[in-house]
Amino acid sequence: MKLRPHYLAPLHEYTNFPFRMLAQKHGAKATIVPLVSVTALTRSHQRLEKLKKEMGKEEKFLGVQLIGKEPLEFLHSAKAIGENFPYVKWLDVNAGCPSRNAFGTGGGAALLDKPETVRKIVSALRRSNYPISVKMRLAPTMEKTIAIAEAAQEADFLVVHGRTAKQYYSGAADWGAIKTVKESSEIPVIGNGDVKSLAQGKKLVKEGFCDSFMVGRAAISNPLIFEGKEAGAKEKKKEVFAEYVSLAGKYGTAELFDCRLKAFELFRSLPNIAQFRGAIAKAKTLEELTAMIAGF
Ligand SMILES: Cc1cc2nc3c(=O)[nH]c(=O)nc-3n(C[C@H](O)[C@H](O)[C@H](O)COP(=O)(O)O)c2cc1C
Repeated sequence: MKLRPHYLAPLHEYTNFPFRMLAQKHGAKATIVPLVSVTALTRSHQRLEKLKKEMGKEEKFLGVQLIGKEPLEFLHSAKAIGENFPYVKWLDVNAGCPSRNAFGTGGGAALLDKPETVRKIVSALRRSNYPISVKMRLAPTMEKTIAIAEAAQEADFLVVHGRTAKQYYSGAADWGAIKTVKESSEIPVIGNGDVKSLAQGKKLVKEGFCDSFMVGRAAISNPLIFEGKEAGAKEKKKEVFAEYVSLAGKYGTAELFDCRLKAFELFRSLPNIAQFRGAIAKAKTLEELTAMIAGF
């Protein structure tokens, strides 16, 4: 599969269908549906029905991220996705989610300790027609990190977030470690962690740290990042927020909770953010929230 120049990272509850559409409208070259449990997809029809509302054919270069630990459930999920969502372009294996929930099920970051399981999952997915990626974090040692990257070599590309599971999101992402993985890998590596601008991402590629890059948090506070622009000024942020609310109505249901979450992130960098947060936390309806933000 041809690598895209950059990707919007999966952020559970943030990079939903309307947000991915917003990012795509503003230049994101690929997006991904976060955290779809292969166990849920294998065992319950409800998960499939829910997924139908969580994505759409309007999404141009869309992947689905699968989480779990049973290789056959991954294969089953790939088939279900193939039958129901012909527009999905690739599947990603989550080998990095550090939440207790993911660890509890043996998937996510728990896979960083199980190269053989990673190998079996990728092998199982190879029996589907999808291009495959594995999104991993750093393991506690470089040796273990390389062992996971090695176990995933049957995939089409790796996504490496330069932090360990223990770090969650604290400390700086270790781009030296990402580069070491790239140098040991036969398949392309998408680097991820703390990329704050398009120019910075391009520089990392140019300097050989990665073959492409993925942006997470910087994109939820600045959805224009993939165009190389800043949603810096208040008026611009208001415009982007209104665009999001409109897309949320078009590609789902615009909801107070979700729009407030997006507003918190979008306006985060403003000097009087605490006051703003306090005010919008009091909004009782979406109409109230949008009116408050328009008058802000
Ligand atoms: C709120 C939040 C939710 C996330 N959800 C997911 C997820 O569902 N799947 C995943 O692989 N990574 C998830 N991540 C990790 C991001 O995809 C990314 O790897 C990480 O934030 C580092 O990139 P960044 O510095 O550009 O944000 C999440 C991160 C945050 C902050």
